[in-house]
Amino acid sequence: MTQILVPDIGDFHDVEVIYVLVKVGDTVAVDTPLVTLETDKATVDVPSSAAGVVQSLAVKKGDRISKGSVVVTLADAGVTVAGGQRPVMSPGAATSVHAGAPGAQAPAMPVASAESTGHQPAATVHSIPVVVPDIGDFHDVEVIDVLVKIGDTVAVDTSLVSLETEKATMDVPSSAAGVVQSIAIKKGDRVSKGSVVLTVLGAAAGQKGASAPSAPTAATTPAAPTPAPATPVAIAAPGGVGAPSALRAIDEAGFARAYAGPSVRRFARELGVDLGRVKGTAVKGRISHDDVKAWVKQALTSGVGQPAAPALPAVPIVDFAKFGPVEVKPLGRIQKISGARLHASWVNVPHVTQYEEADITDLEAERAKLKDAAAKSGVKLTPLAFILRASALALKEFPLFNASLDASGQNLVFKQYIHLGFAADTPNGLVVPVIRDADRKDVYDLARELASLSEKARAGKLSGAEMQGGTFTVSSLGGIGGTAFTPIINAPEVAILGVSKASMKPLYRDGQFVPRLMLPLSLSYDHRVVDGAAGARFATFLAQRLADVKSLLEAVP
Ligand code: COA
Repeated sequence: MTQILVPDIGDFHDVEVIYVLVKVGDTVAVDTPLVTLETDKATVDVPSSAAGVVQSLAVKKGDRISKGSVVVTLADAGVTVAGGQRPVMSPGAATSVHAGAPGAQAPAMPVASAESTGHQPAATVHSIPVVVPDIGDFHDVEVIDVLVKIGDTVAVDTSLVSLETEKATMDVPSSAAGVVQSIAIKKGDRVSKGSVVLTVLGAAAGQKGASAPSAPTAATTPAAPTPAPATPVAIAAPGGVGAPSALRAIDEAGFARAYAGPSVRRFARELGVDLGRVKGTAVKGRISHDDVKAWVKQALTSGVGQPAAPALPAVPIVDFAKFGPVEVKPLGRIQKISGARLHASWVNVPHVTQYEEADITDLEAERAKLKDAAAKSGVKLTPLAFILRASALALKEFPLFNASLDASGQNLVFKQYIHLGFAADTPNGLVVPVIRDADRKDVYDLARELASLSEKARAGKLSGAEMQGGTFTVSSLGGIGGTAFTPIINAPEVAILGVSKASMKPLYRDGQFVPRLMLPLSLSYDHRVVDGAAGARFATFLAQRLADVKSLLEAVP
């Protein structure tokens, strides 16, 4: 029996056991991590300093231990290398150390092992053949990698060779623990069920399926190896036709070659992590549990392991000068900024545009009556002021259109304020000034702010603050012309209202056509947030408000 003790862990005492990584009956190799300890500064794996079968655990999760505490007792597997030497016991092997705080380096931990003073059983070592297990309907499967070499210490389940059929790659795991004595195959060979892969010099107790791990010496005759079935891992067939394409397949050969203990391998398998891609930060580049966790965290935040988003197809590059004289002028500053934002919105936000027409005959009649009086008090009462008022009322009625997706894309942020942006055409390009708290302003207030912000915009005097915080945007091309257009959402807002030029149209009403002034509305919305029915309701509500000028002129509460 061999007791594995906590080695010198520097100034730490009563360190908490946060994971027990093995259980009674497990076969461990030298360096297999047994427990993970955590101080307030670092987590530390205690690796085994001997190979054998875990006979008893002296600690459990939550225990506090110090230097010299017994961690596990191993029933000695009696593994010997040629010449009767015990395999390397790594007395100076340092554990993996992962600082939890900058600069917090736990000292390298030599692993102590204490031979019990009691009876030391004689080692009974056998040459155990490891064969290719049942691999289904496959025969003459190619060996694409031999993952171990003579003299390597292997545990049960250590991957020995990788095989590849045209449909899958699979590892052949070891069915016995011990030291590789001879290797019967090489890369490029073809093997079938029952082919001998290699022989392991070890104790029968280390074999998978052996009944009494605690009594290794009892097995004087090696039991027939009970190979673990190889686990095929689907790989994409060339061209991908008919091939499973869900997750990026683990590169089994790389996985098997990765320098990590069985518990880390098991952990990586559970999480689907390809160990071959994980950088080990423990001694000699060994991969620890924390390395796997760090890799997963990194993968989650950066999208590593996810299929790369396909690049946008490129627009053809044309030498325009080949076809006639040209003049090259750089884009303006505002064009560059707004261009990038519009492009981001166009490629990121699934746009739907809902079209509607509002009957603004009464509105225009009323506006004509009010316009001159308003002008005398310095207010230019344009249709846009009414449209902004109607928009504010619609946003109060449908708060979804005033919301935004948060950065995670999983939550909606409902804003308790309504700040309306409006697109303004300026000599320098398109800008979007914002009218704050538009729902608390009447048409006159809105018209006043519209005029002053437009003037500032055209003069290039808008401050940054005057262009921020918008919750919904109105883009009016009504003063210019057009019947409809698709406005691009000013993301992360979720909707934008496009307004085109009003025109007289025959409207069929009470059994006859009547001339009405119709205002075309084009409402683009983010279909991740707004569904079609909500889009149509919002547009309809807007049209109703615009058709009812009295509701727009009511005093704002
Ligand atoms: N239908 C018919 N006529 C309309 C109209 C409409 N939808 N909207 C405005 N008009 C009329 C106005 O009544 C006004 O005529 P009037 O002087 O006889 O009253 C005339 O068009 C010009 O109005 P305008 O000066 O443009 O004022 P406005 O308040 O409607 O618009 C701005 C102000 C700043 C929005 C506007 O000048 C502007 O820049 N529009 C362009 C926005 C843009 O580029 N959008 C595209 C973004 S992709």
